[in-house]
Amino acid sequence: MKFSTDKKFAKSLDLKDPLKDFKKQFLIPGKGKNSQIYFCGNSLGLQPVTAKKYIETELKDWAELAVEGHFKGTNPWADYHKLFRKPLAALCGALPEEVVAMNSLTANLHLLLVSFYWPRERRVKILTEAGSFSSDIYALTSQIEIRGFDPAECLVEVGPREGEFAIRDEDIISKIEELGDELALVMMSGVNYYTGQAFDMEAIAEAAHNAGAYVGFDLAHAIGNIPLNLHEWQVDFATWCSYKYLNAGPGATAGLFVHSENFHLPRFAGWWGNDEKERFLMKPEYEPSIGAEGWQLSNAPVLPMAVLKASLDIFQKAGLKKIFKKSEQLTAYLEYLIKIKCTPAQKEKPYKIRIITPTEPSRRGAQLSIYFEKGDGKRLVQQFAKEGIILDWRSPNVLRVSPAPLYNSFTEVYTFVEKFAEFCEYIN
Ligand SMILES: Cc1ncc(COP(=O)(O)O)c(C=O)c1O
Repeated sequence: MKFSTDKKFAKSLDLKDPLKDFKKQFLIPGKGKNSQIYFCGNSLGLQPVTAKKYIETELKDWAELAVEGHFKGTNPWADYHKLFRKPLAALCGALPEEVVAMNSLTANLHLLLVSFYWPRERRVKILTEAGSFSSDIYALTSQIEIRGFDPAECLVEVGPREGEFAIRDEDIISKIEELGDELALVMMSGVNYYTGQAFDMEAIAEAAHNAGAYVGFDLAHAIGNIPLNLHEWQVDFATWCSYKYLNAGPGATAGLFVHSENFHLPRFAGWWGNDEKERFLMKPEYEPSIGAEGWQLSNAPVLPMAVLKASLDIFQKAGLKKIFKKSEQLTAYLEYLIKIKCTPAQKEKPYKIRIITPTEPSRRGAQLSIYFEKGDGKRLVQQFAKEGIILDWRSPNVLRVSPAPLYNSFTEVYTFVEKFAEFCEYIN
């Protein structure tokens, strides 16, 4: 699409936007003219208007049916987790039996590492991207230690080349090839939280398998943000949280994916992972359910999961194709405006910025990371907040801007860039 710097152009895109009415499905802080421009959906998504109603349905059943709600409720709780098979499969590009909503991201990652990290003989190493989220590093390090190995030797990172911020997929693949039979697992982000870079998960999965290793992804910043095709890409496992692009609320119930070829793997056991026909027989023998649901430990936390259901129903109504198409346009428009309006003509300005998120649409989602080469960018977050524009800062040097296709508009992107240019004194 060819963009223009004219504000009327932003308005015309909003008028044509097939998703424009979806904004009304979310609670946006601030009222009327003072409602916020919220570009922080990559950190915590907004509350669906229907969240309360969905929770109230379950509270009402609890009040009126108590224990009978497990089997006679509006959405019988004993089977509540099954409501998420179809929508999560669509988001992941998976078979319905390959996904399950459960736990939190880091708890799931540990459960998956129990199944997929099998250090043996020479094959002991885990490859990850440099600059991945701290919680993932802690999980990987502790898993290596608990198996009696040394993280300094076993955890290998691939970083960007000198002077670059994004990590080249080809460098990840060469490192996989170089590690060869020392590699037990590739475990990394699908989209990096700091740079916003989306990795070529299919090519990485192929290289890992060629080396004889398993491959898994942290999809915290990918699910609901970029198209995924985990089954066809032959990804072995993945996990995600649901409070970012999935808008399911703080600490929302997360999820995991296990490829059908791995359903046989051993795992930590709990009664909800047991075959449902046997679940209430209370036998000591464990007969795992076939599929990702066989990785569950406990019965579903229905109240928080009700919000996830409210949110996924919105995704289903809006349609993933439309969401991803608008997202690509919004981010491209944001990048276009920043490049034109925030490039100082004079060299001596208080701030010097550069966008470190890759430009190619296939290598990013709904986030641009603006790196401050000069000036206190962190201060700007407060300045923007006073104007009702919500962004976030990630140490050491990045301002993250994330226009969400379900509730952000092209005009909001325009308003942000105008303010940004003003705050950075880029107006000539
Ligand atoms: C990329 C990434 N991985 C892991 C986590 C940790 O998630 P949790 O605290 O839900 O386990 C986060 C949290 O924001 C994240 O962004």
